[in-house]
Amino acid sequence: MKYCFDALAIFGFAGLVGCANPEASKTEKTDSATVPNKGSYAQKVDEKQVELYELSNKNGLKISITNFGGRIVSFIVPDKAGKPTDIVLGYDSLNHFLHNKEAYFGALIGRYGNRIAKGSFQLEGKTYQLPINNAPNSLHGGPKGFHNQVWDAKLIDAQHLELQYMSKDGEEGYPGNLSAKVVYTLTDENALQIDYTATTDKATVVNLTNHAYFNLNGAGAATINDHLLQINADHFTPVDSTLIPIGVLAAVKGTAFDFTKAHAIGDSLGSKDIQMINGKGYDHNFALNRTAVPGLQTAATVYAPSTGIHMEVLTLEPGIQFYGGNFLDGTLVGKQAKPYAFRSAFCLETQHFPDAPNQKSFASTILLPGKTYSTQTVYKFSTK
Ligand code: BGC
Repeated sequence: MKYCFDALAIFGFAGLVGCANPEASKTEKTDSATVPNKGSYAQKVDEKQVELYELSNKNGLKISITNFGGRIVSFIVPDKAGKPTDIVLGYDSLNHFLHNKEAYFGALIGRYGNRIAKGSFQLEGKTYQLPINNAPNSLHGGPKGFHNQVWDAKLIDAQHLELQYMSKDGEEGYPGNLSAKVVYTLTDENALQIDYTATTDKATVVNLTNHAYFNLNGAGAATINDHLLQINADHFTPVDSTLIPIGVLAAVKGTAFDFTKAHAIGDSLGSKDIQMINGKGYDHNFALNRTAVPGLQTAATVYAPSTGIHMEVLTLEPGIQFYGGNFLDGTLVGKQAKPYAFRSAFCLETQHFPDAPNQKSFASTILLPGKTYSTQTVYKFSTK
């Protein structure tokens, strides 16, 4: 038995404390976090003003968000000793975001999060072709998706930031003028709540998410493989070698994808399962076990033993992409000149399933005129 766990109930919800095996727990904590400089974001992109906004709460949580891509640039939470820890990867300035090869750090993703096979789908008898930016597929709304657009921002107060973006008919190949709104709320219960809404004037497909890269030991710490992950999913959507779902739900039981009980991310990374080979590790959509009760349900929890930081992800969405940072390779240098090593971050992207516009058995992502797309995801923090 490699791991042990004790159930705890702190801050009003149950969590887990674990003792990871020595192999998995080589991560060190990073130095104390600093808030990014607003001046290094104040610049025009596409003739629109970009700024950096800060949300903070009474418990010392601080989130910096830029309206360039609606990106979470830094997310400072106190660790179990009270030390401020920046738990998201990113860069020190807007220029770095504009010119670096990792396009999605902290970003809002749209119009369609995840992949659409061969960048093509049919809607109301018409075929639409999207840019192929992840050959042979279209990924995360195309190269000039929502992550690379300047959103209109309104800082409502120190705990609410409202962002709006009007995506034009035909932009990145998608039909319909889509008016999207995202509200980031930092609550005094230490939760970042993200509310997404959108309306269209023509039938279209929509799948919005946030692509924060987390390391609960601090951005720049060596790995996330010691983090204890639990995903509330008995099934996942297996993929082909281009990461497009093959159209079935596979049971996680007895596989490297079984996170129904919390255990270290690194436990099964050596698995020869074809799905681990296709994903180069974890890069898969999990079909969440939703009860019939409507409303937010816990999708996943993550706990970093070194810092004691615990994150709970709650969502209204049917799926969550667990991406284990397989394409990070140490060549990207992020905030405070720290290089981002292989598997030194994880993403938990709440979503409808990848390629749903082409897969009839998946819940529909079609949005029609007169209807409102509306969804919510919450990342809630505590220490143990
Ligand atoms: C995808 C990965 C991709 C990453 C890019 C994830 O959502 O599933 O395949 O490399 O985004 O940041």
